[in-house]
Amino acid sequence: MKILVAGTGFVGLTHAAVLAETGHQVYAYDIDKTKIAAYSSGERAQIERYVNEPGLATIIKDTLNRYLFFTDSVDDILEGTEAIFLCLPTPPNLDGSTDLTAYTNAAHHLAEKLAARTDRRRVVLVNKSTVPIGTARYLQRILEEHDVPNFGVASNPEFLPEGNAVEGSRRPDRVVVGADSEEDFAILRHVYASFVNHVRIKYIETTPETAEAIKYVANTLLLTYISFWNGIGARLGETFGNIRMEDLKRGVTADSRISTWGSYVSNGAGGSCFGKDIQSLMYQLRRQNQPYALLKEVFEINEYQKTYLIDRAVNEAGFNFNNKTVALLGLAFKKRTNDMRDSSALKVVEALLGRGVKAIRAYDPLATEEAKHYFNPKNNNLFEKISYHNSAADAIKGTDALFITTDWEEFRGLSSTITQTVQPPYLIIDGRRMIPDYMNLVGNGYQYLAVGSRLLPRKKEA
Ligand SMILES: NC(=O)c1ccc[n+]([C@@H]2O[C@H](COP(=O)([O-])OP(=O)(O)OC[C@H]3O[C@@H](n4cnc5c(N)ncnc54)[C@H](O)[C@@H]3O)[C@@H](O)[C@H]2O)c1
Repeated sequence: MKILVAGTGFVGLTHAAVLAETGHQVYAYDIDKTKIAAYSSGERAQIERYVNEPGLATIIKDTLNRYLFFTDSVDDILEGTEAIFLCLPTPPNLDGSTDLTAYTNAAHHLAEKLAARTDRRRVVLVNKSTVPIGTARYLQRILEEHDVPNFGVASNPEFLPEGNAVEGSRRPDRVVVGADSEEDFAILRHVYASFVNHVRIKYIETTPETAEAIKYVANTLLLTYISFWNGIGARLGETFGNIRMEDLKRGVTADSRISTWGSYVSNGAGGSCFGKDIQSLMYQLRRQNQPYALLKEVFEINEYQKTYLIDRAVNEAGFNFNNKTVALLGLAFKKRTNDMRDSSALKVVEALLGRGVKAIRAYDPLATEEAKHYFNPKNNNLFEKISYHNSAADAIKGTDALFITTDWEEFRGLSSTITQTVQPPYLIIDGRRMIPDYMNLVGNGYQYLAVGSRLLPRKKEA
């Protein structure tokens, strides 16, 4: 099939590559010419500057100019195209509503070009972006305005997890397709031929509005689960002595009705989706005069988690950040990605600078280049206090405390690096409970402050 994917960010690039891998002829279109040039080079380093996902650059290299084509113009490619996936950014506005500017611009542009094509075969425009309930209808109106002949609209939300995007696309738990007619369902069954009768993948056909709602309910439920563990589990562990988080998790999730996914405590969930989607759903309910207090609480717990360990360091460990040097371990919002959108590290840096630290020595295996955009000294001269290092050991040198913000596996081995690099008294703030042998550190006189536990050693014992 000839398919167009509009928008080549995390979602669009992965989707285009995985569709090309299954033998479709895929045109991946973006208005960002530098991105298109980078992807068209087929070079790993160039591709990973924009989207760094395991296995993605290899698929692009293997399918490039055979099944996968990159373009910054749709002019010559709409003839014969049967499906157009819209993978455009839908960031939040200040009031939580969804900013549909890029989406609307792309829709009008495509509608204009589709109205002019000579080919009269059916084309389905498919929302892969996460968009408010009712956006497929909005798209339909735009296409009608431009007199596009023989089109359908559909909603096919994306559920891929960053850090595992390729596998998430190759073997999703489910594919949700919301459309209005059998003709359009048939086109999308053809796109997803390998998934339709798959023994494990659930292929769900429904209305466009239901598909749009599924995405919001799923994402807000996942964040609710994370916030439940943070808001209840972490508070219990930090308040009552002798509660072991790992045993609490095992004991609670031994019940087959309770998910193990998300049953951990942390310094909050980041990324481009959870925060934005829950804010959008709150807004959508608010506009209909419906209550949304549950979602508000979930969102606020998650935001609180991002920096509350800094307050705990001050209040429980008596640590004064003023003029101190702090190592920041982790910049990406989670392991195996360079994505920093809504990362806890952004809030931690802001809080540390606000408390007057002398310097921040940062390390992340993948996200350093990304961080330099976020912490550009041209935007705020306080960012000059941040330096970037090639290893955790290097970042820790000469610091007074460290803060683990991302769950990179390599941080599990940190305790020996710490004992070899810095002397007690030294404060370790662990936002991810990454150091299994923390008792060695405590035994050697270091202070260990983790999400979900009291400060060790406790002040009066120290
Ligand atoms: N990132 C994720 O993990 C994830 C997961 C599921 C769903 N989503 C949703 O998918 C959508 C896309 O997310 P993303 O992370 O890929 O975004 P992104 O910002 O990484 O990529 C969007 C791309 O669209 C391009 N673009 C902007 N305007 C355009 C236009 N008029 N025409 C063509 N291209 C245009 C941009 O240049 C950019 O390359 C969002 O709605 C998001 O909520 C994201």
